[in-house]
Amino acid sequence: MLDNNANRKTCLVTGGASGLGKAIATKYLEAGASVVICDINEERLLQAFNELAVKGTLKAVKADITSAEEAQNLFNEIIHAFGKLDVLVNNAGIMDHFDPVGDLDEGLWDKVMAVNLKAPYLLSKLAVQHMLSQEKPDGCIFNIVSVAGKAGWAAGAAYTASKHGLLGLTKNTASFYGSRGIRCNSLVMGGMETNIADSFKTGMNTEGYQKTNELLKAVNIPLCDVDRAAELCTSLTFGKGTSLVNGACIPVDHGWSAVYGIS
Ligand SMILES: NC(=O)c1ccc[n+]([C@@H]2O[C@H](COP(=O)([O-])OP(=O)(O)OC[C@H]3O[C@@H](n4cnc5c(N)ncnc54)[C@H](O)[C@@H]3O)[C@@H](O)[C@H]2O)c1
Repeated sequence: MLDNNANRKTCLVTGGASGLGKAIATKYLEAGASVVICDINEERLLQAFNELAVKGTLKAVKADITSAEEAQNLFNEIIHAFGKLDVLVNNAGIMDHFDPVGDLDEGLWDKVMAVNLKAPYLLSKLAVQHMLSQEKPDGCIFNIVSVAGKAGWAAGAAYTASKHGLLGLTKNTASFYGSRGIRCNSLVMGGMETNIADSFKTGMNTEGYQKTNELLKAVNIPLCDVDRAAELCTSLTFGKGTSLVNGACIPVDHGWSAVYGIS
């Protein structure tokens, strides 16, 4: 059950033009929140805006959130348009190429770290500073993690390290700001049918990919539906009683992590 306060909230969903981010933006709009989606992919962003704008108050901003300057400009645009930000969903993410560290190119390491870890840091910093400046801080941050944030075998070294790092950022943010009105939680996602494979269409490490897939096939756990995952995120954002949940790393994976003992 939702708290009915969603219509007073402004939410930023990064990577909101595709996959899970677009689904979360949709559910937030349906709950009555004002929503900003940002994405680096302009074509998909425009498509998502045209599709979702009928559902409520929506703004789309093209931004590469790995750049401190673009993250700041995005933030300024949100404050200019809505006066505040209440909810940040650090959702944008890219895969690596399934390279273990011995094969991992430095450029790819930097790129994956920038999107998956630096961008959440940049935006969380801006969000926390802004939320704390409100008369009665009531902020909420979600970080979208992966089974690879807990396990060593679910991706290459760069993605695995970035998502492990994002869990650390979640726990630290929750610890330092929970008592000051800002909660921060992670959804630790299992596999989903999205456009994320675009990031390893070229340059994939076939051996690494096969190794991951062998392990996945062995447990044969179904993919997570993005709309159901987005509904969960919406309930955890606006649901009654959720102010009690802070620093949680919530597995959303049909029990996948429990099977492997990593939840
Ligand atoms: N798809 C899966 O199986 C899966 C599993 C576990 C976790 N996740 C996580 O879910 C999140 C969402 O991914 P998805 O599966 O919906 O993928 P997706 O590719 O469909 O969506 C990700 C979006 O992020 C955007 N993006 C990438 N770099 C960006 C940048 N620098 N600035 C702004 N936007 C940028 C992309 O353009 C894309 O629209 C990611 O954090 C991903 O790691 C996905």
